[in-house]
Amino acid sequence: MAEQLGTLEELPQDYRDAMTEAGVAPLWPMMRKVLPHGRPQPTTKPSYWNYGDLRPLLLRAGDLTPVEKAERRVLVMSDQGRGTGAMQATSSIYIGLQLLLPGEVAPAHKHTPSAARIIVEGKGGYTVVDGEKLPMNRGDVVLTPGGEWHDHGHEGDEPVVWLDALDLPLFVYLEGSYAEEAPLQAQRNRPDASMVEYLASGLKPSKRGASARRYPMMRFPWDRTEAALREMAKYTEGAVELDYVNPETGQDVLPTMGFTAMMLRPGETLRPPLSSESAVFHVIGGTGTSVIDGASFDWAERDTFTAPVFAEIDHTNTGDEPAFLVRVHDRPLQEKLGYYEERAR
Ligand SMILES: [Fe+2]
Repeated sequence: MAEQLGTLEELPQDYRDAMTEAGVAPLWPMMRKVLPHGRPQPTTKPSYWNYGDLRPLLLRAGDLTPVEKAERRVLVMSDQGRGTGAMQATSSIYIGLQLLLPGEVAPAHKHTPSAARIIVEGKGGYTVVDGEKLPMNRGDVVLTPGGEWHDHGHEGDEPVVWLDALDLPLFVYLEGSYAEEAPLQAQRNRPDASMVEYLASGLKPSKRGASARRYPMMRFPWDRTEAALREMAKYTEGAVELDYVNPETGQDVLPTMGFTAMMLRPGETLRPPLSSESAVFHVIGGTGTSVIDGASFDWAERDTFTAPVFAEIDHTNTGDEPAFLVRVHDRPLQEKLGYYEERAR
């Protein structure tokens, strides 16, 4: 295999002009860029957002822009490899912080990208998906899957903030991204499925002939996730991680994005294998330091940071209490495409 391929500059100008005129270009000068040797060369850079820095900016958006003017009042968190304003935090994952003030509602919409909300602060917010009212409590993961109507409102008396994660970059790339609007949905008068049908892990409603909904459980309450992590940590060596799954199928909760709850014991350092997934980490609780491809981020509760594909990652819990994070990643997409991969460091 040739080490050095021919360049555009080596070609005579009249030939280059003729190619441009004909609407073609030589592959070989661009070959290594689109097919690098051995491993991908990501554009994404490790990025970090301190919640204390973002919160005043988000609250000011609440003063400056009424929700009717914003539809969704969000500050987009851009991958620093692409620059501020980029509508993506990694190759396939978009994230933003959304603010909802007491009494505000946002009309229903549905869109082709799938989304999930990780609740950052505030009480009294709720999301309605397909008529099901989903309370939004700190750390909960609430799904708003592609093609499902969703609206939200706020019955509390303090700002509610959540982290939106979407597979938007993928849908933009596919030229498949669009939304439809509708009035607020009628709400079913009953608790959400996590409190009824899927209250206990390993149990699901016994149904004959009835087909389960594609997304049977759309809220994953944090208190149960944390309890499960703590219990698992007592009897597990090494990484304590739980994947969020569809309780009917055991599959990932959304088609392209996966969600994994992580616990780090006090003083523990995790060095996961290199992985083809890109990831967003949101800190639910605790303090620590993560070194990602040489960039060091000190994090605390409610902070968020990212890792590109095949990043070298060290997470250390620097506090006296367990640390909890939710990782959003694109492993489900990569598994469907048949190229998810892990490599030893
Ligand atoms: Fe939405």
